[in-house]
Amino acid sequence: MTTVGIDLISFYTPQYFLDLKTLAEKRGVDFNKFYTGLGQEKMAIPPPDEDIVTMAASAARPILDQTDPSEIELLLFGTESGVDQSKAAAMFAHGLLKLPTRCRGFEVKEACYAGTAALQLAIPWALRNPGKKALILASDIARYDLNSPGEPTQGAGAIAMLVGVNPRIMAIEPESGLYASDVMDFWRPNYRDEAVVDGKYSMRVYIAALEEAWRQYHALSGRGLADMARFCYHLPFTKMAEKAHVRLAKTAGVANLSPEDMEHQMGESLHYNRITGNTYAASLYEGLCSLLDNCTKDLAGKRVALFSYGSGCMGEFFSGILQADYRKHLYSAAHKNLLDNRTELTYQQYEDVFQLGCPTDGGDHTFAQYRTGVYRMKGISQHKRLYEALT
Ligand code: HMG
Repeated sequence: MTTVGIDLISFYTPQYFLDLKTLAEKRGVDFNKFYTGLGQEKMAIPPPDEDIVTMAASAARPILDQTDPSEIELLLFGTESGVDQSKAAAMFAHGLLKLPTRCRGFEVKEACYAGTAALQLAIPWALRNPGKKALILASDIARYDLNSPGEPTQGAGAIAMLVGVNPRIMAIEPESGLYASDVMDFWRPNYRDEAVVDGKYSMRVYIAALEEAWRQYHALSGRGLADMARFCYHLPFTKMAEKAHVRLAKTAGVANLSPEDMEHQMGESLHYNRITGNTYAASLYEGLCSLLDNCTKDLAGKRVALFSYGSGCMGEFFSGILQADYRKHLYSAAHKNLLDNRTELTYQQYEDVFQLGCPTDGGDHTFAQYRTGVYRMKGISQHKRLYEALT
């Protein structure tokens, strides 16, 4: 039987971070509110010469290094921090990655659900084009107002996934539970750089979406919680996923989950998010990378449950089966190297970067070079973003 799904998956996050202890001290709150209450320890901060395009291209580079670019005929870019109202971030990435002109590329938007929207669009396409691959990019910079409740849940990062038939990492199963509803829990009007959020309400809608999506998935597939080896959730902050998992278990008839059950079922998927913060469209797949990189047990042949949530709102519960030898195709060492070698910022450096903004005067601006991935934004000229490859 032909399977379809994630053939390769790679994660990238900026090389600077702010420790939430530093933020807590500045804001006059007990750091345990962030470390324990939200389950977050650090948030990734992109330097001024890095944006969603450079992060996504840096995530994709390892995949391109072992893929024939002429196989890639679909390029989907999921983001809610788009850099242009008209031109898709996919086209900037297409240029940086030197993909062939025979390629269909566009941007996908529905808040943090955009990465899943792109993945699910690519699956029937891949079945129809079995000799070809889709490249899915999901990249975001999570920004809230300074000194707002959302501030400690900021973050940044990108995922790149190659999608095709007979995948090496994970075959995606056909059943999906879906939940779409027109709500205002979190949004970002075009004139704002920072999201507006009704935080507590957003948490309730996330849970409502999960419960309904699960019920549908269960009815369609006949599967229960015991059929899942691990669970990965959309991760605005890790405590949200823990709350969601407890609720899911109750909905599915499991009254009491022990701390050991929780750790076993989802613990490994939380490591990366805890030290990068919310990566919006990338976050579910960052969680999947965290699980695959950190799980010492071989999960080949096992099912992983995936819950994607995007404010506004859209939820989807689906699942995938890890493939034989999937561990041979992970970028675990590169992810570890990236996360272990980041530079900590002071509070003032964080605020200076936050306040910088992008020049909007149409003049010529050259950006200083900071530590980035293999791509950077070198400047802006006549309202055009100028990118460069560093290798
Ligand atoms: P808040 O209201 O300032 O925090 O902001 P709080 O007072 O609710 O405290 C948070 C937790 O810390 C609580 O735990 C406190 O008890 C605990 P809980 O009761 O909920 O279990 N706490 C402490 N724990 C230990 N030691 C202490 C201490 N003090 C307090 N000393 C909020 C929290 C999440 C509302 C805020 O950060 C926010 O608005 N974040 C952004 C919105 C968000 O992330 N929503 C999640 C669901 S929506 C979603 O996932 C979509 C999204 O990713 C975007 C998209 O889709 O596009 C956001």
